[in-house]
Amino acid sequence: MSLFINESTGVDGVSATGTEEQPFKSPAYALFTAREASEEPKLLVFKQDAEKGDGFVEISASALKKARKGCEGLVKKQAKQLEQEKRKQEQEEKEAAKKLESLNITIQQDCSLPEAQKCKIAKSYDAVDQRVKVSGWVHRLRSGKNHVFVVLRDGTGFLQAVLTGDLALAYQTSTLTLESTITLYGNVSKLPEGKVAPGGVELLVDYYEIVSLAPSGEDAFTNKIAEGADPSLLLDQRHLALRGETLSAVMKVRAAFLRSIRRFYDEESICEVTPPCMVQTQVEGGSTLFKLGYYGEEAFLTQSSQLYLETCLASLGDVYCIQESFRAEKSHTRRHLSEYTHIEAELCFLSFEDLLAHLEKLITKTIQYVLEDPVAGPLVKQLNPTFKAPTMPFMRLEYKDAITWLNDHDIKNEEGEAFKFGDDIAEAAERKMTDTIGLPIFLTRFPLEIKSFYMKRCPDDLSVTESVDVLMPNVGEITGGSMRIESTEELMAGFAREGISADPYYWFVDQRKYGSCPHGGYGIGTERILAWLCDRYTVRDCSLYPRFTGRCKP
Ligand code: 4AD
Repeated sequence: MSLFINESTGVDGVSATGTEEQPFKSPAYALFTAREASEEPKLLVFKQDAEKGDGFVEISASALKKARKGCEGLVKKQAKQLEQEKRKQEQEEKEAAKKLESLNITIQQDCSLPEAQKCKIAKSYDAVDQRVKVSGWVHRLRSGKNHVFVVLRDGTGFLQAVLTGDLALAYQTSTLTLESTITLYGNVSKLPEGKVAPGGVELLVDYYEIVSLAPSGEDAFTNKIAEGADPSLLLDQRHLALRGETLSAVMKVRAAFLRSIRRFYDEESICEVTPPCMVQTQVEGGSTLFKLGYYGEEAFLTQSSQLYLETCLASLGDVYCIQESFRAEKSHTRRHLSEYTHIEAELCFLSFEDLLAHLEKLITKTIQYVLEDPVAGPLVKQLNPTFKAPTMPFMRLEYKDAITWLNDHDIKNEEGEAFKFGDDIAEAAERKMTDTIGLPIFLTRFPLEIKSFYMKRCPDDLSVTESVDVLMPNVGEITGGSMRIESTEELMAGFAREGISADPYYWFVDQRKYGSCPHGGYGIGTERILAWLCDRYTVRDCSLYPRFTGRCKP
């Protein structure tokens, strides 16, 4: 028998037959097709020959030797493939049998067991040796030989649970996916020495129900928010990303922080109020106002509730609010949001030094309360392991001395030149200074020209104001505050300086008319103080659904 081979036009496969018209591509494959024949075929290989003319010639001895080796390899490869296919088929049969078996397993609650007490995960840690019923989301899922391990999450904590016996084998267990919701019943067991799990316990599940299955495959949770994905894609999936351990930890610290600051205000007898968000006056300059149509009139989203807080002093005494503020910030920085949670307070009958002392106490006490919180304290440690609680007194640095400090450290202004009195200390320079000093700083006595219309001048130097920015390492400014102008005439001069018509502010001016008093206040950016406390690179990580230039969804 002769087999034909053409190494350039031949084919190694079923479409070739080894004839002159349909030659094989390789001599090895030709031998492989005839491996069961009684005699080795004669191999004829196509050769181009200018003298004798193109045509098939008998294979050389050395090429035949090589072809035989190649054929042996192909035989081995085929045997291996057959073996693999056999194993795959066996596996599929095994799985089908297992599925059939698991379909027959019905899991039922054992009515002879004590009734399970419904509880949230955080409470289950204290229910050692008790039978409980807990519902939540499958946060982690791992199958062992005869066990299935689940970490359940319900927002109050994480619970390690183990399914054994029929529960592990049942068909419904094989359908479980991450983020499915389930209700577990079982005994809370204290973990043995040396083993770790949240709350130091493990739930030995005796029965469970699936509430709702999350998708598997392409739509699976892990495909939606893959680790290291583009930040903008993660922000599109913020509703899912919030389920992650880091973001949810920051949100819990945020809740504890707001609780703690309210506790501080309560202890200081400062009254909470809720000023409006839709306003017709500006506080911090027209360029960052969000305008809105208001029944045919022009209105804005508030930049700050300060002016409204000032109006409450005469009726409620010292007041504070925790309210959203809105800034149409053109800058795309790590510390600017278009909407942020603004904590503002206004205090009456106090001096500038009293205001600074109050701020120091507020920050140290509030942080102390957060760190003492049984949930938030450990989370801060997890997010920011080297965090050191601030201690009083804070460093005081006058604006003019900061200018000298910046020049001494060769830090340039926005124009790339040496700083001069009257320059705004922009974000980059401010952060360099704060990070170098590495401590909370009260930056005080800013020049009149670079501050807002309502700020009071320093009695000993009318070119500067009784103003303060609180600067924290890694973030820079987290708080801005000042003493306020007390006299109507001076306030009018402030409006005139800033080119603002005083008419819409009649109610604000009236505070000076009907019983003026020395007063001052401040605004704290919640996301900024959290970025410092939780060591987040950007304030966006400290907001539930951050809004900034180009992002207003989901
Ligand atoms: O310094 P600001 O603009 O001061 C005021 O609005 C005063 N009227 C507050 C007052 O005295 N009642 O803002 C105060 C703080 C800043 O220190 C900063 O922490 C935060 O609000 N802040 C922002 N946070 C996030 N994104 C922005 N775009 C912010 N603008 C200000």
